[in-house]
Amino acid sequence: MSRSIAIDGPAGAGKSTIAKKVSAKLGYIYLDTGAMYRAVALKAIQSGIDTKNQQGLAGIMDKLDIAISHDNNLQKIFLEGADVSEAIRTAEVSAGASNVAAFPEVRLKMVELQRKIAAGADVVMDGRDIGSYVLPDADLKIFLTASVEERARRRFDELLQKGQQVTFEAVRQEMVQRDKNDSSRALAPLVKVPDAIEIDSTALEIDEVVEKIIYFYQNYANIKFEDIS
Ligand code: DC
Repeated sequence: MSRSIAIDGPAGAGKSTIAKKVSAKLGYIYLDTGAMYRAVALKAIQSGIDTKNQQGLAGIMDKLDIAISHDNNLQKIFLEGADVSEAIRTAEVSAGASNVAAFPEVRLKMVELQRKIAAGADVVMDGRDIGSYVLPDADLKIFLTASVEERARRRFDELLQKGQQVTFEAVRQEMVQRDKNDSSRALAPLVKVPDAIEIDSTALEIDEVVEKIIYFYQNYANIKFEDIS
């Protein structure tokens, strides 16, 4: 039986940075599920399909070729064989991913792939619906939050570092809109399930959050590890 840790929460809460570190410490695979919805959005944009067009999206899902590789704890995502790990990180794709993620035709296919990966390996999986829907029996469920201001600041810094031309206010607005979208959709919305442990990362360093999660995993998931560095 493989092991799993689910880390859910809104955009910019630090899920991917933290999930990556937790998985490295445990020797588990890190699965960034947001990247999958981003790849679908990128495909729609490349095909000239509006990311809010459910019928249009449904039409491309059957032939959609998304693959994921894990090398040294680094996830890469491929769309039709091309590495799109960087191309999916633009603001346009962020907004598009939130749109396409509302459609059952998209979600069911992505969830199937996520469950398949989790069945075959120990994983730390981050997203919006991992503890509530994808892996309801996860060994540990974390709900990671931070204030909107802090989340927007982190995302803004990240985009600046990548040389993208954005204003803080635009990033903040986009974040508020995405929170609303992700929390209000009918299927598998962003929600804190009762058995998830909430961690507010607003005033915490990354490593403090990582330590907390490892601590919760060791103590609350009732698993003993001999060698966690
Ligand atoms: O985590 P992220 O910012 O890369 O995710 C991009 C979008 O994908 C997010 O706004 C909502 C959607 N998403 C989702 O609906 N379910 C997930 N498990 C992960 C992401």
